[in-house]
Amino acid sequence: MGHILAIDQGTTSSRAILFDGQMKIAAVAQQEFTQHYPASGWVEHDCSDLWTTTAATCRQVMEKAGLRAADIAAIGITNQRETTVIWDRKTGEPLHNAIVWQDRRTSDLCRRLRDEGHEPAVTERTGLLLDPYFSATKAAWVLDHVDGARARAEAGELAFGTVDSWLIWKLTSGRVHVTDATNAARTMLYDIRKGAWSPEMCELIRVPMSMLPEVRDCASDFGMARGDLFGAEIPILGVAGDQQAATIGQACFRPGMMKSTYGTGCFALLNTGDNAVVSTNRLLTTIAYQMDGKPTYALEGSIFVAGAVVQWLRDGLKLIREAGETQPLAAKADPAQNVVLVPAFTGLGAPHWNADCRGAVFGLTRNTGPADMARAALESVGYQTRDLLEAMQQDWGAKGETALRVDGGMSASDWAMQFVADITGAQVDRPEVLETTAMGAAWLAGQRAGIYPDMEAFGAGWALERSFQPAMERDTREAKYAGWKRAVAAAQMF
Ligand code: G3P
Repeated sequence: MGHILAIDQGTTSSRAILFDGQMKIAAVAQQEFTQHYPASGWVEHDCSDLWTTTAATCRQVMEKAGLRAADIAAIGITNQRETTVIWDRKTGEPLHNAIVWQDRRTSDLCRRLRDEGHEPAVTERTGLLLDPYFSATKAAWVLDHVDGARARAEAGELAFGTVDSWLIWKLTSGRVHVTDATNAARTMLYDIRKGAWSPEMCELIRVPMSMLPEVRDCASDFGMARGDLFGAEIPILGVAGDQQAATIGQACFRPGMMKSTYGTGCFALLNTGDNAVVSTNRLLTTIAYQMDGKPTYALEGSIFVAGAVVQWLRDGLKLIREAGETQPLAAKADPAQNVVLVPAFTGLGAPHWNADCRGAVFGLTRNTGPADMARAALESVGYQTRDLLEAMQQDWGAKGETALRVDGGMSASDWAMQFVADITGAQVDRPEVLETTAMGAAWLAGQRAGIYPDMEAFGAGWALERSFQPAMERDTREAKYAGWKRAVAAAQMF
């Protein structure tokens, strides 16, 4: 007993992290899996890859730490959100590959629903916008494109789930079909104020309610994980979508606290407490976490390309061999160059929500070289963060705290984080533990299991590694940001 196994099923890899009784990391295992791009703007994962890499990393991490099932008090799950799986309840067979959150195939359907005037009702109930990002239209697409799927769904033979649901189904040998409130809030089928699936949304998007999982608190009983996998059964006691888990791991428990995670994309969440704030700046209203039946809400800004811009420098442009080369390369850029990169590779997320926009580069000269491109790539992440913070400040007023807690792979870059502080004018705080997502899932499970501290004590234990203070002259900051705004406007006109 005394350890917690956190599963972090992400967009590019599955990870298993063991935390000891003091919430310290004991071992980590990770496996990448194949991304499928069957058509332009389409992104899929093989559902069995999601499961097998998860199961394999769980076994590996236990072996690495020399632990048996009896040493593990509970499992916590966190996952890439919105990604949609539909499977047969009897056979457990998925009907189609998982359609990934980045996938834009339903943009025509979303546009039609918007043109018909449905967006205000969608936002009112779900806190979301009519964008292909969310699960609902992806589920409808599967029902409309797989032979016989709609009839089978209407007959109650099919199950829908986000990745947490799919993993719990597999972990419990098909005994449990559940999700948590944070994942439900990303489907566009869940009424975040009533705390229940919305019959109106299910009818509008044409997803039969019989397919939907039961929704639970983030710290709750999600079933027992199979004994044959671990040697003995282990209870699953915590679940949260990865950005919400990071909000928990960053201990953003008071209204006004915010975090920004720089992974494939960038997701900023501002805790708004009991108040499900309606954004007038095209941010999302979502559930940060739900404990004891009580939801805590957040405003969320989602940017689709952050760390992915570094992957593009590496794999697309081949300017670098590994991500770590970006920062030293960017530092060599010519200060006189003013290259602006708009990394709208899969459209623009908040606050623009333009699914059809594509990337663009402005300000190229004969002297522009790899260093200037690397710098423009890193700067694009800072500019997008400022877009989100400005929208949040407008929606939330000056009540917000001024510090931004950061995490995710790219937050390790001092250069990038200093630029975020410079261009936003906000203090940027990087915690000692950067594994905030896994930590959030582990804490949910561990406190439910009675081995981890309560919310207040956990929040008090949050430790700062480094603070970045804004150092850029105000005029320079505003001039650079104005250039970014012009570039985004121009990219959208192309
Ligand atoms: O909303 C999508 C998000 O949950 C994906 O996160 O870390 O897998 O890129 P990540």
